[in-house]
Amino acid sequence: MDWHQGTCYLNGKWMPLADASISVLDRGFIFGDGVYEVIPVDTVDGIRAPFHARPHYARLQRSLDAVRISNPFSLEQWLDLTAELIDRHPWPRQLIYVQVTRGVAKRDHPFPTGVTPTVFMNSTPWPQIPAEQIENGVSAVTHADERWLHCDIKSISLLGNVLMKQYAMDHGASETVMLRDGFLTEGSSTNTMLVKDGVVIAPLKTVQILPGITYDAVFDIARAHGLKTERRPVAEAELRSADEVWLSSSGREVLAITRLDGKPVGNGRPGPVYQQVQAWMQQAKREDALAWKAERDGRTRAT
Ligand code: PDD
Repeated sequence: MDWHQGTCYLNGKWMPLADASISVLDRGFIFGDGVYEVIPVDTVDGIRAPFHARPHYARLQRSLDAVRISNPFSLEQWLDLTAELIDRHPWPRQLIYVQVTRGVAKRDHPFPTGVTPTVFMNSTPWPQIPAEQIENGVSAVTHADERWLHCDIKSISLLGNVLMKQYAMDHGASETVMLRDGFLTEGSSTNTMLVKDGVVIAPLKTVQILPGITYDAVFDIARAHGLKTERRPVAEAELRSADEVWLSSSGREVLAITRLDGKPVGNGRPGPVYQQVQAWMQQAKREDALAWKAERDGRTRAT
């Protein structure tokens, strides 16, 4: 099955993706007035499961609260929809996309009243992360962070991010790492962290970055295995003199950035801490998949 032959969920109905349509007056289309999530699904030890589904829906709730859109579903309803969406597709690895917009109304900036949010979910196949990227790392370029000051909201208004990703493409790089007033923020669609003298360091979760689910998972894993971690402001000079720099996201998991602005990071190879964290991450996915299966089996028995 090709990605465009998938099934999607739109406003209470399941339908072929090709048949789904919304009004041109949807505020998501007109104003970028909506929020979203991307949840990775992998098959580990024969269990196909989303990774950290609950934290993703907790963050969706946080984004909805921040823009005052009422959450159309309970957590359990979201998890059921996610399970059904996964089951409707044959792919062992999927990326689940979830979008909620304020809904359809006459074009006018203030929030409309009595409007039902638009809910859209679909799944696409998630290709394997190229072994070459895991083994050799990827390159990144830096750029001033020119986005707004609510980057903690997972808003569908992504023009600033899109321009920064294209900047990376235009410079033959895989990601753009952004700096605001001389301090590291994040990548165009990834969080950024670094290692110095064995300590894993990342920017604080402020309005300047998205609180990444993968970034949190990496920190939890690192701490659980006894690594020292610090969340604090990271000055540009620290970024440029780090032993290791990593990017993280639901779609790319954790990858080492081995070239930054054309210069090698550390010795130019993915570092030893990266290699450990990468292996621990696969273990965490295994545990998460088992928990998901136990939970779904319990839910099926209960209903
Ligand atoms: N991007 N920062 C930004 C700006 C992002 O867009 C993302 C994710 C992240 C990483 O967050 P997480 O670990 O929760 O995926 C950080 C998604 C995958 C996207 O827009 O496709």
